[in-house]
Amino acid sequence: MKTKPHPGAGVEIWDVDLRRVDDATFAAIRALFVEHGLVFFRDQELREEDHIAFAARFGAINVNRFFPRHPEHPEIAVVSKRPEQRINVGGGWHTDHSYDTEPALGSILVARELPRRGGDTWFVSMYDAFERLPERVKERLRRMRAVHSAKHIFGSRTTRIRRFLGAGELAHNPELADALDDVIHPVVIKHPLSGREALYINPSFTLRFAGRSIVTSLPLLAYLYLHATRPAKVARFTWRPGSVALWDNRATWHYARNDYPGEARVMHRVTIAGCALRGSAPN
Ligand code: SIN
Repeated sequence: MKTKPHPGAGVEIWDVDLRRVDDATFAAIRALFVEHGLVFFRDQELREEDHIAFAARFGAINVNRFFPRHPEHPEIAVVSKRPEQRINVGGGWHTDHSYDTEPALGSILVARELPRRGGDTWFVSMYDAFERLPERVKERLRRMRAVHSAKHIFGSRTTRIRRFLGAGELAHNPELADALDDVIHPVVIKHPLSGREALYINPSFTLRFAGRSIVTSLPLLAYLYLHATRPAKVARFTWRPGSVALWDNRATWHYARNDYPGEARVMHRVTIAGCALRGSAPN
């Protein structure tokens, strides 16, 4: 398998057809996923069925309860921005599903319609962000937990969702109410697959540290967010027709750039179910 490091973070695989992955090749892709948390593929010709089948090799599919679903393939969340829309989905640093009690293992995004230019997705590694912290900060964070929520983004009492997707598509989702419970995760997890320590907070869904208010949590959160997104550490992935990105939601953040006004961008995302997360410090 031909691979090369992607600038900033992750790895690109060049010579694999994701429609036909034998067991040995899949094991090699999975090993790269566990090691880097971020794997990019080019020149793929995935039909929706192929996309779902590839994702299902990693685990059960977690159908996103907020996003519009593909009409024939409900496993696929459609992440789209129409030319007249101003706000995009995912236009801030986040990791998918941290608001769940069992956050998603990973996501696989396939480009379906791209703007002429722009619309990149940026990624950062949370292994790297944690490793680069001063030892005394690491020690402190290992003992902390944080509260995550989706209600300020997807909850029925916010209008943001309507502005994201227009036409109230998500507001009709009867499962929205499920989003309203806050969940608590360790700030530093022992990654379930790699066993490595990763920082597990994110600017979109983390509200505060457990036992602290939003206001008193803010200075440390802001420090960590700036630290994690240092420009030299950002992998800027430029989509082309046939591009596919596979990322680890427990070890990376991503950010969909919104720099293509007046143009459409349509992506298909399949999200893979995860498990409850354990902290890296012994209980
Ligand atoms: C997402 O946030 O899952 C979508 C990212 C993108 O559209 O680039």
